[in-house]
Amino acid sequence: MWAVLSLLCAGAGLLGPPACGAADLYVSSLEKVHFKSWMVQHQKRYSSEEYQRRLQTFVGNWRRISAHNAGNHTFKMGLNQFSDMSFAEIKHKYLWSEPQNCSATRGNYLRGTGPYPPFVDWRTKGKYVSPVKNQGGCGSCWTFSTTGALESAIAIKTGKLLSLAEQQLVDCAQNFNNHGCQGGLPSQAFEYIRYNKGIMGEDTYPYKGQDGDCKFQPSKAIAFVKDVANITINDEEAMVEAVALYNPVSFAFEVTDDFMMYRKGVYSRYFLIERGKNMCGLAACASYPIPLV
Ligand SMILES: *[C@@H]1O[C@H](CO)[C@@H](O)[C@H](O)[C@H]1NC(C)=O
Ligand SMILES: *[C@@H]1O[C@H](CO)[C@@H](O)[C@H](O)[C@H]1NC(C)=O
Ligand SMILES: *[C@@H]1O[C@H](CO)[C@@H](O)[C@H](O)[C@H]1NC(C)=O
Repeated sequence: MWAVLSLLCAGAGLLGPPACGAADLYVSSLEKVHFKSWMVQHQKRYSSEEYQRRLQTFVGNWRRISAHNAGNHTFKMGLNQFSDMSFAEIKHKYLWSEPQNCSATRGNYLRGTGPYPPFVDWRTKGKYVSPVKNQGGCGSCWTFSTTGALESAIAIKTGKLLSLAEQQLVDCAQNFNNHGCQGGLPSQAFEYIRYNKGIMGEDTYPYKGQDGDCKFQPSKAIAFVKDVANITINDEEAMVEAVALYNPVSFAFEVTDDFMMYRKGVYSRYFLIERGKNMCGLAACASYPIPLV
């Protein structure tokens, strides 16, 4: 899972070298066996030079996971398809490197005064949350967060859980400061869908995982956005309230050093809510769409 990965590697990076295991570790034969089976599971092949490097990174990650899971934490870590990569590599490959234009320094979401339920898991309330898709591809973070939140918003209003087209966002949302495979923001993507007058379904606009020409066909749009609620930056209380009362919320994640300070509250509380959110992490730029249904 993404959450695991970003936590895992950010943690290693912050706690000092080796950041996700770059230094020479002594690797036990058991660890080699684990790596081999992980390679089989994820269909990985390397040259012998790369193998040594990946093995080192993997073992660093593996040890950190084991140490974490042996401790008394509110969440567990685990391996995933990125476990042979360092945090720097993941960041370079999957995250837009410029700072994002989060416009929610002061959001338009108005917070109430509570009280709020102590726990909410939209998945258990009904069919409101789409299943997790493979999140390894291009632009997956911001596009999955966007479609996931909109799908939930519509399901909460209509009872119907759609599957919306991430690829349309990759191909078409550039005018709203999104950058296809290189990244974007859910709040900007909601604005795109709003002014574009709709987004198509996954079935008519399938996910390709690479940048392409925009193939939006207005007659095939199946979901629409009436308005976008931006939550004031770092207002976690407002996020809790929005999640508790209204909708799963999309997050944008900026990889900063204070990441670790947030992780517990955020991860223990939001952990279950929405697919694709985890690379997109924290209370940096939260928003949710108000659908037109
Ligand atoms: C584990 O953490 C919980 C919650 O912080 C605490 O109540 C419990 O005492 C801890 N258990 C151990 C063995 O430290
Ligand atoms: C932020 O906004 C400016 C002005 O609209 C734009 O030129 C820049 O590319 C944006 N940055 C990102 C990361 O989208
Ligand atoms: C919400 O955020 C988006 C993009 O980040 C921005 O375009 C829009 O103007 C914001 N809306 C409000 C009401 O601030």
